[in-house]
Amino acid sequence: PSRSFPRVRMAVRSGAVSVAPILTNLQKDCATSLPVLSHVADAMAADMRAGLAADGGSNLKMILSYVDSLPSGNEKGLFYALDLGGTNFRVLRVQLGGKEERVIATEFEQVSISQELMFGTSEQLFDFIASGLAKFAQKEGGKFHLPSGRMREIGFTFSFPVKQLSIDSGMLIKWTKGFAVSGTAGKDVVACLNEAMERLGLEMRVSALVNDTVGTLAGARYWDDDVMVAVILGTGTNACYVERNDAIPKQTGHASASGRTIVNTEWGAFSNGLPLTVYDREMDAASINPGEQIFEKTISGMYLGEIVRRVLLKMTEEGDLFGKSVPVKLSNPFILRTPDLCAMQQDSSADLQTVGSILYSVVGLESNFSARRIVVDVCDTIVKRGGRLAGAGIVGILQKMEEDSRGLIFGKRTVVAMDGGLYENYPQYRRYLQDAVTELLGTEISKNVVIEHSKDGSGIGAALLAASNSKYEHEF
Ligand code: GLC
Repeated sequence: PSRSFPRVRMAVRSGAVSVAPILTNLQKDCATSLPVLSHVADAMAADMRAGLAADGGSNLKMILSYVDSLPSGNEKGLFYALDLGGTNFRVLRVQLGGKEERVIATEFEQVSISQELMFGTSEQLFDFIASGLAKFAQKEGGKFHLPSGRMREIGFTFSFPVKQLSIDSGMLIKWTKGFAVSGTAGKDVVACLNEAMERLGLEMRVSALVNDTVGTLAGARYWDDDVMVAVILGTGTNACYVERNDAIPKQTGHASASGRTIVNTEWGAFSNGLPLTVYDREMDAASINPGEQIFEKTISGMYLGEIVRRVLLKMTEEGDLFGKSVPVKLSNPFILRTPDLCAMQQDSSADLQTVGSILYSVVGLESNFSARRIVVDVCDTIVKRGGRLAGAGIVGILQKMEEDSRGLIFGKRTVVAMDGGLYENYPQYRRYLQDAVTELLGTEISKNVVIEHSKDGSGIGAALLAASNSKYEHEF
């Protein structure tokens, strides 16, 4: 055996090793057969129960949102929404006209969050947000009207895990999605925003603090009473749903009059039974939050491109497909983005020209046709696993709700409101997700489960929740 060793090494150096086994192993490790999916769905339901039983009872935080009445349609007046959750921050104003007129007018602006801000201090981040809000508020006019003597009210969508203290306050548990702002964890984020607004002399107040999933659920429910679950599949991922109070053993003190409350699962932290690969483990180990958000790292937009990059790097280091040298660019973490995968997967040209030009311009890889096909297969493997696991997660939530309510979920139309760029822009991902839901539930039941894209619903949803929790509510 010692004699054969140099021969293998030489084979590697001369570039004679095929990448086929790397691809085959990847496909095997990422396989999401029906038993794997059912196991994930069951584990999701079990983790939800454990998280509802006690704080810290499971990976899923099952955060109580303090949103216990959903929009009725009667909401009236001018409200603002502020949305911080990923690469962008958005401000929005909406004039609500009650049952008859519903949404009279909306306006929004979007600003991107720089890397410096994501790694800066809490004051810098909140000052930036407050000043964006101040500039936007100054431009109010036209169809927007606020009765005199009333302060502008904000629905604040803050899409990170927050220990909600009341409908209008909550403490940041930890940052996710690549944010590493110092000095916010453990603080009330509404107080952070209020302090920044005070520093600017801006008089506005937060009436509702919500997660983006909760905003999406509220926004979708405004139009459709059958909405029971909301899911975000974007930079990060998460889901919330309408839960009965009697199914929440850990709820003490605050019990809503409606008998229901929205629970933010923070399912990004789920990790039970996932089909993971060496690339996932290495990406996790190199991340700023190792060991955390494993479901999110397997299925959401921030990470799919990076997993594929790691596979391609391995293929260039150990295989012969892309020539003998490893381009420097390919070693840059996060250089290949999920929209690049998506663009490559839409390429239907005979010579996969788009795939070739993306590989060259983004990661510096020269490729022939067979190399391009392999790259598309790698993308498809990672995207298929992501979409199918997301579908299994959704089924897990529905299953849990059905078990508690016998027929009230699967026996009638139930809507899952969905938002986020990954779902919106990646047709293959969407299809894989829907396939998994149908496979798991069977064709009959899955006809009752409608996954509906609720575009940018979370902004309006947050404004609606600011309205229903308005400090001036009773004046109407
Ligand atoms: C991350 C956050 C979560 C948010 C999700 C989608 O998982 O922790 O709060 O809802 O991203 O934006």
